[in-house]
Amino acid sequence: MRQLIVFALHRVRGLSVVEADDGVDALRKLTAGPFDIIITDLRLPGVDGRAVLESALERYPEIIAIIITGFGTVKDAVNAIKQGAADFITKPFQFDALLHVLTSALEQRRLRSENAYLRSQLDERYRIDGLVGRSRVMRDLSQLLETVAATSSTVLITGETGTGKELAARAIHHASPRRANRFVAINCSAIPETLLEAELFGHARGAFTGAVGTRQGRLEQAHKGTLFLDEIGTMSPALQSKLLRVLQEREFERVGDVHTIKIDVRVIAATHSDLAKMVADGTFREDLFYRLNVIPVQLPALRERRDDIPLLVQHFLEKLAAEQVPPRHMTMSQDALRRLMAYAWPGNVRQLENVVERALAFSHGRSQIDVPDLGPEIQNLPATPEEGSTWFPDEGLDLERYIEGVELTLIKRSLERTQGNKVQAARLLNLKRTTLIEKLKRLERGSSPTL
Ligand SMILES: Nc1ncnc2c1ncn2[C@@H]1O[C@H](COP(=O)(O)OP(=O)(O)OP(=O)(O)O)[C@@H](O)[C@H]1O
Ligand SMILES: [Mg+2]
Repeated sequence: MRQLIVFALHRVRGLSVVEADDGVDALRKLTAGPFDIIITDLRLPGVDGRAVLESALERYPEIIAIIITGFGTVKDAVNAIKQGAADFITKPFQFDALLHVLTSALEQRRLRSENAYLRSQLDERYRIDGLVGRSRVMRDLSQLLETVAATSSTVLITGETGTGKELAARAIHHASPRRANRFVAINCSAIPETLLEAELFGHARGAFTGAVGTRQGRLEQAHKGTLFLDEIGTMSPALQSKLLRVLQEREFERVGDVHTIKIDVRVIAATHSDLAKMVADGTFREDLFYRLNVIPVQLPALRERRDDIPLLVQHFLEKLAAEQVPPRHMTMSQDALRRLMAYAWPGNVRQLENVVERALAFSHGRSQIDVPDLGPEIQNLPATPEEGSTWFPDEGLDLERYIEGVELTLIKRSLERTQGNKVQAARLLNLKRTTLIEKLKRLERGSSPTL
């Protein structure tokens, strides 16, 4: 029966099939995958069918598993379905019946991935209005993105990690005439080099081991839409030249196929590395660089637009607090906000979002986030005055006298606030009372200028 099924699946559906003699053989062959489909009896000599099913599902979570059962073991089949099998068929059966079960399982999987795609697009619509920022650089950036959106030109987005490169790419797509079609993202650094080519260009049936059936690549999926190539700097030289051809000729072939496919796609690439330098070092193709860099978009680091931090904090607070059950309304204390504005943000907006999320988790039912809720790296930051708020005269200054002046001013203010109570004033300044008195004496003797 097995040989018959293998023969028919190959002849009728054009599938390439690997057969196994028993459970042990199946387990071994599963590791040589990848596989899209597994058809197995539950009663097998040696290792039984449930173990084979379990191993297949663990190795290939998306695999379609069809179970064959004997008469009177429907209960086992139901258990197999609970385990993750797609369907079962009871012996004896006609080949057509098996084919029918298989076809509808394939269709179900296609719908599932389509649904996942649609859902991700819905989420996106929420996020798209989310390019938050009113600073000069962000306003210029929005304008640039809008202008770019109207064209079909290739865009190269650069910027440090977490600055919003992907967000900007999606914003371009959704503001463009292509928005009715797909935005397809592919992260070149997340996919092993050997798989990236097939992922991008698709493959013909049997192009390589495990290439069951023909598959469309991301490039084709993005037809009339936008293809987002993330971390382009990690692309291999061989793939770089294939991509160059796509950008120049707007055509390509699937892996293992001779048929040329024409494509209409806008390409947006992103990288956090310095491509110009990579060109100079010979690790990135110069011609590809120029093809990509038609419209360069540089995203500013968060520390270059600190004015936007309060706005971003509010944005994330609204978003994250509203997602909680029950929804909360949260604010952030001025002190905490000052700390956030003084921080250097190596991880940029993503890091800020994480910090807000963490602070929210640590705020246990209070409605205001305060300094102790912030992560240690920010909490331990001295609460320095905001950069730029400190006046620096053209002719320079005497640093020590200037700082003494600041000290005296702050001590006087704290005394004013506590109506002259030195114990309380010292506490406000995180000083010992004796230190405060000492400082006050010394500073007044030096009669530094007040600010
Ligand atoms: N201007 C912004 N307004 C609101 N949210 C933003 C902004 N910029 C970035 N974000 C948010 O910060 C996170 C990181 O953004 P994104 O993934 O686009 O960064 P990236 O530059 O692609 O980072 P990486 O280089 O690490 O891939 C996302 O959750 C995004 O929604
Ligand atoms: Mg990214």
